[in-house]
Amino acid sequence: MTKVLVVYYSRTGHTRQIAEAIASACGGDLEAILEPRSRMGVFGFIRSVIESLWESVAEIAPSKKSPGDYDLVILGTPVWAGNMSSPMRAYIRRYRERLPRVAFFCSLIGANPDKALPKMAAACGKDAAATLEVRESELQAGAHTAKISDFLKSIEL
Ligand SMILES: Cc1cc2nc3c(=O)[nH]c(=O)nc-3n(C[C@H](O)[C@H](O)[C@H](O)COP(=O)(O)O)c2cc1C
Repeated sequence: MTKVLVVYYSRTGHTRQIAEAIASACGGDLEAILEPRSRMGVFGFIRSVIESLWESVAEIAPSKKSPGDYDLVILGTPVWAGNMSSPMRAYIRRYRERLPRVAFFCSLIGANPDKALPKMAAACGKDAAATLEVRESELQAGAHTAKISDFLKSIEL
């Protein structure tokens, strides 16, 4: 059986909800990317925009699970200024050499989704087995469940 790790960063909980639903649907383990410094409030928002535009690497806490112990790692991020979040960039940078097969998903409001997932593939140095974009409106309407099912079906687990 394919061992799956779902790794996500979430500032306000939407990506976490999607990650939990994916892990539950495929029986995978979950790992949250955590930061030592809060990113909430207006200043946290502005810092996030700047880090995204500059493609900075955020400071992140050590992970509990090793991606090298898995057959497939599914990486999830919110879209920030059309790009992946800086904590996700830091995770990929740290574990790039240990990543097995990868798939990506992102949470977004609905603008500029085009760059985030290709940039994740470039950062990992490999193509995604599958990709998924979930808008907050789809999450609120419960439409993410069917999309997650299609996403997982398209990956040979
Ligand atoms: C700094 C920042 C930049 C954002 N930029 C975009 C964007 O370019 N396009 C978009 O559709 N949503 C954008 N969003 C909205 C988030 O992608 C969206 O709210 C996402 O669901 C948040 O996920 P989270 O709750 O897991 O943090 C941005 C949010 C933040 C905080």
